[in-house]
Amino acid sequence: MSKLWGGRFTKQTNELVEEFTASISFDKEFAEEDVEGSLAHVIMLGECGVLTEEEVTQIQSGLITVLNKIKNDTFEYSVADEDIHMNIERALIEEIGPVGGKLHTGRSRNDQIATDMHLYLERKTKHFISLIEQVQQSILEQAADNVDTILPGYTHLQRAQPISFAHHLMAYFWMLERDKSRFEDSLKRISISPLGAGALAGTTFSIDRSRTAEILGFMDVYPNSLDAVSDRDFILEFLSIASTFMMHVSRLSEELVIWSSQEFQYIELDDSFCTGSSIMPQKKNPDVPELLRAKTGRVNGNLFGLLTVLKSLPLAYNKDMQEDKEGMLDTVKTLDGTLKLLAPMIETMVVKKENMKKSVQHDYSNATDIADYLVNQGSTFREAHEVIGKIVLYGIENQKYLLDLTMEEYKQFSPLFEEDIYELLKPQSVMNARNSYGGTSEQQVRNQIEYGKTFIQT
Ligand code: ARG
Repeated sequence: MSKLWGGRFTKQTNELVEEFTASISFDKEFAEEDVEGSLAHVIMLGECGVLTEEEVTQIQSGLITVLNKIKNDTFEYSVADEDIHMNIERALIEEIGPVGGKLHTGRSRNDQIATDMHLYLERKTKHFISLIEQVQQSILEQAADNVDTILPGYTHLQRAQPISFAHHLMAYFWMLERDKSRFEDSLKRISISPLGAGALAGTTFSIDRSRTAEILGFMDVYPNSLDAVSDRDFILEFLSIASTFMMHVSRLSEELVIWSSQEFQYIELDDSFCTGSSIMPQKKNPDVPELLRAKTGRVNGNLFGLLTVLKSLPLAYNKDMQEDKEGMLDTVKTLDGTLKLLAPMIETMVVKKENMKKSVQHDYSNATDIADYLVNQGSTFREAHEVIGKIVLYGIENQKYLLDLTMEEYKQFSPLFEEDIYELLKPQSVMNARNSYGGTSEQQVRNQIEYGKTFIQT
């Protein structure tokens, strides 16, 4: 098959080279965006008098026929035509004859592919924003059911202070809120049109770039044609936001794995989100959060892959830039799967409130509170810390928790102790005492959930 760019060549392309340089196996993902960009381009060429009305009508109807074939999967992609742009152009020419060859007037594949990816990522970003909200919604629901569910809060994975399970879950809500807002913010850099930048320097035809931008719904136009065709920052930004998002998912996943272990038994994931072992009949494995945790690796890898491809690339377009796609598509696919699984997995997770409660009854996570108590009784915090440290040591040696010690025992350590410490040391009192803004008291957590709801659009 002769190439659309074959005029200057005297030899056929080596078959291996054809295979190696072609991008059609993956850029066919942008088929619809490509046609959309072409439709906008041709309308604009007509309005600017570069093409006649008759030519515009013919090209438009040809493109629609091609689009329908793409949509109903009857379009035949060919490696010999290298990429999505030339596959579509060839199909158009076959459909409507040589006039189809006028479509490419005043543009290049360089501004074309950039346009396709801007359109594609803009759509995906909006899709992810709405999926993130669904996950946030599922967190809000679980949180609302667990405001008074108490579990140990950890630092260094050592029990620190008792907290509300809703408070713990809401921490993830805010991480997702930041991810969402990063995606929203990135839209203003994605929604910029490179179309009409030509190969690198603009075009000799009198075209109207803002018109194509307007038809395609872009917010702005690149002011520099070299930058327009060389910029892949918007993809890097997407990959970077995706990596941060997946890092958050991996932290949550890790906690779900830990919490569902026999040792913790804080939650049970629904059977439909777990798998069994081929040999050990008792096993119920948290495969989904394990895989989510692991998929963070490929998303990070895709970010580093593209950063490395772009490093030191001279202006303007270089074939290297074709390597921007597979990692991005893989990240899109991974995020889509991840987000769709997260909401139902969180919704169906069973919270074992009694087990969480048992944990806080069997630890020293109320120690800070008796230190604070001594401070309120007139001791300095350092002295109090020392005294309580000794009491904890005494408790460990005598296998007693702080609520099990008698007043006599307390008095041996400090005369400042009174009966009221027993009420104060109950996990619920300890939790509710942290009533500062953003703290774990039931009142603060309820306020926080209400505030969180104001960030959800739907
Ligand atoms: N398939 C190419 C890519 O993805 C499209 C742009 C090709 N431009 C070129 N001058 N060869 O980067």
